[in-house]
This record gives sequence, C-alpha cells and structure tokens, in this order.
Amino acid sequence: MEVLLTDAELLGRVKLPSRAAVQLKSVVNGPPLLRVPIASVQMPYDFGSLSALLSSAGFVAAEEEADELLARAAGDAEVLASLVDRRLTGEPLAWITGSVMFCGLQILVDPGVYVPRWQSAPLARRAAERLAATGTAVDLCTGAGAMAKTLTATRPGARVVATDVNERAVACAKRNGVEAFKGDLFSPLPLELLGSVDVVVGVVPYVPTPELSLLPRDTLAFESPLSYEGGRDGTDVLRRVVADSVPYLRTGGALLLELGGEQADVLADDLARLGYVYVTVLLDEEGDVRGIEATLAGTRAPPVDRDAGNAV
Ligand SMILES: C[S@@+](CC[C@H](N)C(=O)[O-])C[C@H]1O[C@@H](n2cnc3c(N)ncnc32)[C@H](O)[C@@H]1O
Repeated sequence: MEVLLTDAELLGRVKLPSRAAVQLKSVVNGPPLLRVPIASVQMPYDFGSLSALLSSAGFVAAEEEADELLARAAGDAEVLASLVDRRLTGEPLAWITGSVMFCGLQILVDPGVYVPRWQSAPLARRAAERLAATGTAVDLCTGAGAMAKTLTATRPGARVVATDVNERAVACAKRNGVEAFKGDLFSPLPLELLGSVDVVVGVVPYVPTPELSLLPRDTLAFESPLSYEGGRDGTDVLRRVVADSVPYLRTGGALLLELGGEQADVLADDLARLGYVYVTVLLDEEGDVRGIEATLAGTRAPPVDRDAGNAV
C-alpha cells in the first residue's frame, strides 16, 4: 500500500539534529520559506491522518485504534511511527499497545498471548454470577487471564485459579494478578481443589480444524493455532473439559464453556451421561450460540434467572 505523506509528516519520521534549534525549511522554490516551531511538526501522524491511514488499510475501528496508538506513543514520533508500522502488518493492537479492555478491566496482553475478545465477556459475567462470594473457581485455558481477573474483580473474596499450556500466557496472567499454573487443563492444579470447585469456566480452543482457514486473515499470521484448534468438529478439548471437570466440581457446581454452532448438541450426550443437569445453551443478542452452562447434579438448584430465558 502506498502511503502519501506531507513534508511535515516526512520530517517527523526522520531523525532531526536538534529538536530545539531546527526550523523547517521548504525545499522547493516558490513562496517565502515557512518557519514553524519544531514541536508542531514532530509527530508523523495526527489523529485525523492516522485514522484515515488505518481506515484506508481496512481497520474497521480506525478512530479508536488511532486514539490508542497515539496514547501509547505518548508524543514520541519515532515510537509512533514504529507502532503504526507494526499495526499495518496486521499485528494485534493489544500486542502493540500492551493491553485491552475486558469487562471494564484493563488486561495486560503480552505478544504471543491470545487477545481476549469482547464476545467472551457475557460468559465471564455469567460465570461470576454462579460464583459464591467466598467460593472457588477454575479458569481453564486462561490466556492473559481475562476471565479469571473478571471473576476476581466481581468476587474479591473468592479463590480463582487458572491454567494454560502456554508459558507466555501463564506469565502474562500472573502479571494480571491471576493465580496461574502452567499445564494441560486441570493437571497442574492443587489436588486440594478436588470436589470443592463452584465454577469451572473456559474459553478453550473450539474451532473445527477444517475451518481454521476461514479465520480472519491476520489471526493465524500472528496468533497460535493452539488457541483455536479444536479437532475435527472443534469439540476435542471441550469434551475433555466436560469429563475432567466432574471430579473437581462440587455437587451443584457450574460448568460454563464458550462454544458455537452445533457444538452444544454434540456435547449433550456426554453432559447427560456424566451427571450434568440444567444444561443451558447461551445465546448472544443475534441469537447465535455462544456457550453452554451446566450444573453438576446435586441438591442445590442453580441460580438461573428464569425470566431472562436462556440468553446471555
Ligand atoms: C481461545 S484462547 C482463550 C484465552 C482466554 N481464556 C481468553 O478468553 O482470553 C485458548 C487458550 O488455551 C490455551 N490452551 C490450548 N490448549 C490447552 C490445554 N490443553 N490446556 C491448557 N491451556 C490450553 C492456549 O494457550 C490459549 O491461551
């Protein structure tokens, strides 16, 4: 893509000998030389030109992104130019700015770590509703720890633990204040949690392997298939979580998983066989399947809001 820059913009992108002393000179013959304080021409982009550039490059939230990039550069022209160059390659904005907002919380996101999606927020809120004030929750496949951090923010008296196989993700989740362990699903968790967990929540990999190629162009150019790939119909990890949650959940405890399409139906037999009840398919505002909520059979009825139907 060709980017047209004005003289002032070009000057902002090259190293100037002395910021204080230099004055801008026109290099073409014509009108009298323009004299401008260097402070006013340092930045390679202002909000308008950066929004326009991002928009023309196909970024749908160009204005919000321009705001974030300008804020991250904090007035440093060279930093801004390098941040914009990275974004134009398709690198996730959160890796460049270092964080993303999720459920009103700032989540630090290190390069190489899955960027939490706003679409997962209703599941996080619903999981928090199922967590007692001093209860225990497990966030499987935590990534940067967005779900876990939301649970803790909502239920500060609860214990929330999390796991992820990706070392970088675990380190990032810890930076977000999450008690995170590295390993496969439940395997790194303290055994004392067996039979005592109120809520298991997970945004686990659930994209059917044959559909990976349908993900947005930049997704797998940067993010790992480990975050997405769920096997032939996308339910490989989901099935394992449904089964492995049973020894950890207390009776009446809740399992909440993000999934899509027909995956809730695919899991129905496993859920029934393993003793889950009140199985509820969670829908978004468009009526698309976004998740599943189930309760491990016990004496305590789940606090489902019947008036709200099964929408998230
Ligand atoms: C879709 S991302 C979700 C991250 C986070 N829950 C969120 O919503 O932001 C899936 C995460 O699962 C992790 N993962 C994949 N397979 C795993 C496994 N078997 N055990 C634990 N974590 C796993 C990946 O490293 C990735 O961080």
